[in-house]
Amino acid sequence: MRQVLPYRIYFLWGLLPFCILCSSSTNKCTVRHEVADCSHLKLTQVPDDLPTNITVLNLTHNQLRRLPSANFTRYSRLTILDGGFNTISKLEPELCQNLPLLKVLNLQHNELSHLSDKTFMFCMNLTELHLMSNSIQKIQNNPFKNQKNLIKLDLSHNGLSSTKLGTQVQLENLQELLLSNNKIHVVRSEELDFLANSSLKKLELSSNQIKEFSPGCFHAIGKLFGLFLNNIPLGPSLTEKLCLELSSTCIQNLSLSNIQLYTTSNMTFAGLKQTNLTALDLSHNNLNVIGNDSFAWLPHLEYFFLEYNNIQHLSSRSLHGLFGVRYLNLKQSFTKQSISLASLPKIDDFSFQWLKRLEYLNMEDNDIPGIKSNMFTGLINLQYLSLSNSFTSLRTLTNETFLSLAHSPLLLLNLTKNKISKIESGAFSWLGQLKVLDLGLNEIGQELTGQEWRGLDNIFEIYLSYNKYIQLTSNSFASVPSLQRLMLRRVALKNVDSSPSPFHPLRNLTILDLSNNNIANINDDMLEGLEKLEILDLQHNNLARLWKHANPGGPVCFLKGLSHLHILNLESNGFDEIPAEVFKDLFELKSIDLGLNNLNVLPPSVFDTPVSLKSLSLQKNLITSVEKNVFGPAFKNLSNLDMSFNPFDCTCESIAWFVNWINETHTNISELSSHYLCNTPPQYHGFPVMLFDTSPCKDSAPFELLFMINTSILWMFIFMVLLIHFEGWRISFYWNVSVHRVLGFKEIDRQPEQFEYAAYIIHAHKDRDWVWEHLSPMEEKDQSLKFCLEERDFEAGVLELEAIVNSIKRSRKIIFVVTHHLLKDPLCKRFKVHHAVQQAIEQNLDSIILIFLEDIPDYKLNHALCLRRGMFKSHCILNWPVQKERINAFHHKLQVALGSRNSVH
Ligand SMILES: *[C@@H]1O[C@H](CO)[C@@H](O)[C@H](O)[C@H]1NC(C)=O
Ligand SMILES: *[C@@H]1O[C@H](CO)[C@@H](O)[C@H](O)[C@H]1NC(C)=O
Ligand SMILES: *[C@@H]1O[C@H](CO)[C@@H](O)[C@H](O)[C@H]1NC(C)=O
Ligand SMILES: *[C@@H]1O[C@H](CO)[C@@H](O)[C@H](O)[C@H]1NC(C)=O
Ligand SMILES: *[C@@H]1O[C@H](CO)[C@@H](O)[C@H](O)[C@H]1NC(C)=O
Ligand SMILES: *[C@@H]1O[C@H](CO)[C@@H](O)[C@H](O)[C@H]1NC(C)=O
Ligand SMILES: *[C@@H]1O[C@H](CO)[C@@H](O)[C@H](O)[C@H]1NC(C)=O
Ligand SMILES: *[C@@H]1O[C@H](CO)[C@@H](O)[C@H](O)[C@H]1NC(C)=O
Repeated sequence: MRQVLPYRIYFLWGLLPFCILCSSSTNKCTVRHEVADCSHLKLTQVPDDLPTNITVLNLTHNQLRRLPSANFTRYSRLTILDGGFNTISKLEPELCQNLPLLKVLNLQHNELSHLSDKTFMFCMNLTELHLMSNSIQKIQNNPFKNQKNLIKLDLSHNGLSSTKLGTQVQLENLQELLLSNNKIHVVRSEELDFLANSSLKKLELSSNQIKEFSPGCFHAIGKLFGLFLNNIPLGPSLTEKLCLELSSTCIQNLSLSNIQLYTTSNMTFAGLKQTNLTALDLSHNNLNVIGNDSFAWLPHLEYFFLEYNNIQHLSSRSLHGLFGVRYLNLKQSFTKQSISLASLPKIDDFSFQWLKRLEYLNMEDNDIPGIKSNMFTGLINLQYLSLSNSFTSLRTLTNETFLSLAHSPLLLLNLTKNKISKIESGAFSWLGQLKVLDLGLNEIGQELTGQEWRGLDNIFEIYLSYNKYIQLTSNSFASVPSLQRLMLRRVALKNVDSSPSPFHPLRNLTILDLSNNNIANINDDMLEGLEKLEILDLQHNNLARLWKHANPGGPVCFLKGLSHLHILNLESNGFDEIPAEVFKDLFELKSIDLGLNNLNVLPPSVFDTPVSLKSLSLQKNLITSVEKNVFGPAFKNLSNLDMSFNPFDCTCESIAWFVNWINETHTNISELSSHYLCNTPPQYHGFPVMLFDTSPCKDSAPFELLFMINTSILWMFIFMVLLIHFEGWRISFYWNVSVHRVLGFKEIDRQPEQFEYAAYIIHAHKDRDWVWEHLSPMEEKDQSLKFCLEERDFEAGVLELEAIVNSIKRSRKIIFVVTHHLLKDPLCKRFKVHHAVQQAIEQNLDSIILIFLEDIPDYKLNHALCLRRGMFKSHCILNWPVQKERINAFHHKLQVALGSRNSVH
């Protein structure tokens, strides 16, 4: 019995790899919002472990041979099942039974060959069924009978030889039936009558070898609005028959591209007379001859596609009758047959006179000889005219070239690529409503006097880029103040520095492109007043000198005042210096491109612009270090940064901050690993900047801190030394006072009666007479006042020093009678003063009174007695007056000083 358990375990262990294998093979599907994508997984079976609530299941590009209905029972909520690009050859009817909500079933690129009545029997809710690129050659009976909700049925790229999809009327809601690339040779009415109740927006029969349209074939369909018969070699006669078959149908959209319709006559489209055709595509037909009145039957036509043909001659009646056309495409419709000029296509005057409603005319890429005086006459609704690369010789635009457009409300005129070399005065004076004039890619070489633009009162954009040379004057744009966009790229621009600036009249300018002109000289007022300018392109010029400090007169600040500038491009100008303040007043600047310059060291906070930058390009400069003080502000809210191909110096000081920033930022920096490489030091050459290890750099941070602390300590030390030198006495004195107060030597404020003496008088022996003479009388006057005079009051026999100490303690105040004698008295110096001061510190600062009998400077006082006037309250410092009449005042002051409470306040 004991043996069994291990065996079981072995058995389970043996199964484990298989379980992992089978589950992992199906778990690769990605499921998001009830959409399971199992495409491209080499699946041979339908996964059985997807959430049951999925509504979309994508099984394309796998190796499924079948879609077993049982496997779908758990996915009963599916509305879209895409099984395209597998090798499914058979479909179980029960599939739809298990998927009652299925709306879209895609089985394109499979191997289905046979559809029976049962195949889609239960697929009643289907709106789209894609069976393109299978091998269905024949449809028997009615496999689509139950598809009452079907809107789109794609059976293209099969082998069907007939349009017949059923024997009875069905598919009443079908809108698109795609049968292109089959083997249908004849369109028969009995093969389309299953659609008798349908309204088809699109019947796609392109790329079939149709040779015949049997009578009434299109009338068999309930309503036919759109018919596509591209890539069928119908030729003129079958086309004519086709149109007859379409007579009186609902046809609105007919596409006959690439059907070898090389000629049309007044009969070709006669059958369409009884229709409301609105769109006709005759492109890619090699159409050579348009017979007069060919389209006279199409008064409802609105969209007419005639591009890529070979029309030799458009006569005044070729387009007769196209009164409703709003869009006409004649791109590459008139091409020359051979090299000889005689075979150039011709467009007669008044050819377009019938197209009263035409709004859009494309005549690009033609070989029309030139513009005749009535070429466009009658186009009274024309708004968009493209004449790009239309003419073989339109060298000069004169005041008569566009005369025939005088009555057209033209908004856009495209004249690019016509080898135009000169614009004469008033050339556009007929086009007062024009908004966009494109003259790019020509050979214009002239001075712009301003007369060229005369009459362009509503012009919004002039595109002049890529011409031979343009010489500006102060008046070049004086007649077009409404201009908002001016493109002057690569036109060998001359006299940009004329004064006043050529751009001065363009107060509404928002975009100015002056790039690729090798401009070296501009004035600082070139853009003055262009307050609406948003985009300025100055790349590929030669402006480096203008921003050099060494420039005579200082850097030229040509950007000043552009308060609405958003985008500034200064690429490839050779800049090696940027003035620090140059971007400071560009209040809305979001993007700067300074790539391909020679910048190395940038001034701190040069990018500290009023709003934070979104995009900064500095690729291919000579930047070695990326430091916080320069780039910190710019990098704050950046979405895109390009600093690729700079010779970064991979040392802590140069790029540690940058590398740390890269690792944290959400800014988009493309090609970080391959285009941001270290240049120095040699051991890091070619090493990706992003891999630079900044952890050793962190050690330098404490050092920096240490350095800072050290220097501050040093400075503080120096400060203290100076302070102590000059004010030390004050500090130590007040320090002593404070310490005593703080340590609890309470202010001794004993009542006056606790003291024996009102004051102890310290004086030099030689000043004895003055004391007797002037202080004793005070005692006599005031009985309560008693001084301690050494000579008089010391008890006999007591040691002198002890007596002094005791007496000082018993006195409320101490009076110093300061004279030169006192300063020299040794006992005073050493002992009495010390005690007195000690007591003052312990008790109170105004317990000491200084009476100066002579004028003694402070330094002498300090030197001899270590006392300064500054230590005491001013009312405790008295001067013995020279004048007799002030002696009374002195006595009064002394009494005040003696009477004052021993307090600091
Ligand atoms: C669908 O099923 C998954 C798990 O099977 C569940 O997480 C998810 O919330 C379900 N979604 C809805 C809309 O019920
Ligand atoms: C299924 O996936 C393929 C390939 O990824 C994609 O082309 C197709 O549109 C997807 N089908 C559906 C219904 O989303
Ligand atoms: C799919 O159904 C077949 C039988 O119809 C069954 O053998 C197979 O195990 C099923 N596969 C899954 C993944 O459910
Ligand atoms: C068609 O779909 C609806 C829900 O949209 C459902 O109620 C109905 O049963 C479906 N019909 C069939 C035949 O499955
Ligand atoms: C068609 O043109 C021919 C001449 O080319 C003319 O005889 C005939 O009357 C025209 N038919 C119509 C309907 O204009
Ligand atoms: C064409 O349109 C008009 C009105 O818009 C309508 O009366 C007429 O029946 C339409 N003709 C055809 C053939 O559909
Ligand atoms: C065109 O300019 C010429 C002078 O160059 C003038 O004689 C002629 O009248 C102008 N034509 C028009 C239509 O203004
Ligand atoms: C003018 O036509 C050229 C060529 O098609 C095109 O590239 C250009 O964008 C057009 N210009 C305008 C303003 O549309």
